[in-house]
Amino acid sequence: MADKKRLSIADFLKILPTRNKKIEGAASDPPKPLTSYRPNRLAMILHPGRQALRVAGVTPLTDDVKLYTLVPDPSGGTDSLAPFGAGSYISVTVETDGRVFSRPYSITSSPGDALHGRYEIAVKKEPGGVVSDFIHENWDVGTPVSASEPAGEFQYEPLRDAPTVICVAGGTGITPFRSMIRAVLEGSEDFRLTLIYGARTEKDLLFRREIEAAETLDPRIKVVYVLSEEEKPGREHGFVTADVIRRYAPVAGPYSVFVCGPQAMYRHLETELPKLGLRRKYIRYEIFGPIRQIDAEPDYIRPERDVFSVTVRQNGAEREIPCRRDETLLSAMERAGVRAPSLCRSGECGFCHSKLVSGDCYVPARQDHRREADTKYGYIHPCSAFPLSDVVIDVPSAK
Ligand code: FES
Repeated sequence: MADKKRLSIADFLKILPTRNKKIEGAASDPPKPLTSYRPNRLAMILHPGRQALRVAGVTPLTDDVKLYTLVPDPSGGTDSLAPFGAGSYISVTVETDGRVFSRPYSITSSPGDALHGRYEIAVKKEPGGVVSDFIHENWDVGTPVSASEPAGEFQYEPLRDAPTVICVAGGTGITPFRSMIRAVLEGSEDFRLTLIYGARTEKDLLFRREIEAAETLDPRIKVVYVLSEEEKPGREHGFVTADVIRRYAPVAGPYSVFVCGPQAMYRHLETELPKLGLRRKYIRYEIFGPIRQIDAEPDYIRPERDVFSVTVRQNGAEREIPCRRDETLLSAMERAGVRAPSLCRSGECGFCHSKLVSGDCYVPARQDHRREADTKYGYIHPCSAFPLSDVVIDVPSAK
């Protein structure tokens, strides 16, 4: 091996004048804009931050679910859509009565559709849901929509997940799986996908015809329906249980279980899935927003008061707002018109990361994705923190 020349102290001291000479001799043109560099341009396509979209189509799927087609809005600065992996979500922002709300929705179209300038999201009208009501009543063809770049971790990872995935869906929880089915068909994903789709009746099953067509087109896709309020030949009856999953799981070799559905289904499956004896890494739950029944959490101790005061420090200003014990600090801020950053609303992404200056909060274990240092130094994710006392928080500005 050739001897490498070592840099002596004397050589080292010569570097500075040489560098200064080069800097002085450099052209005095203003620096090039960051977008003139290819890696930066690529980074901005992959991670645009926010995307300006507009509604290009509205299709009612049931009485309370509508499918929205979203396309880029060049007049808002978005010429193409950010690509994504099947199972991702976007967070859309709506403004009503001077208050800004955001909600994550799974992208239900395929990754290939995004390359052709189209995302689809399905929005269910929730009882008392400010955002879903607003969308159902106000979004029409041409409506501008502000959305985040795609985010989330509910995607097939060949290094972690098994070659067969049992996808357990409930209600609109079918949306990320429709994207995965389409991704398998178009070739952007390669795994065996068994969909176990639970609904009350057959008419509540979304995308049924399309899903059944996919099953006939590709032997890697299998579909099982589980109806809780109807008995029909060829359909499972009741709820999705460990026994139902075992019936359709591979006889040999490991399999993954992906779950997306209403919170009640998660609570039910949290007692069912351990019976399968799978390694922990093979069980994946999609985010589902703030916990609605905080009293049902096993380690929640109900505080003495029902409403607490939250002092929000942001951009050098301070504001005091009320927060019910059963709502998250983020929900209280949105209701009071405080703009706080948010994306997943489930404690996962860290986008709302804020300093808890004083007071005490309950963070449900299943939504506590903070780093150890955050817990140690008093940082919380307001989207998954419920007040146990009056609190003071330092909140970054919304991006
Ligand atoms: S919005 Fe994702 S952690 Fe709070």
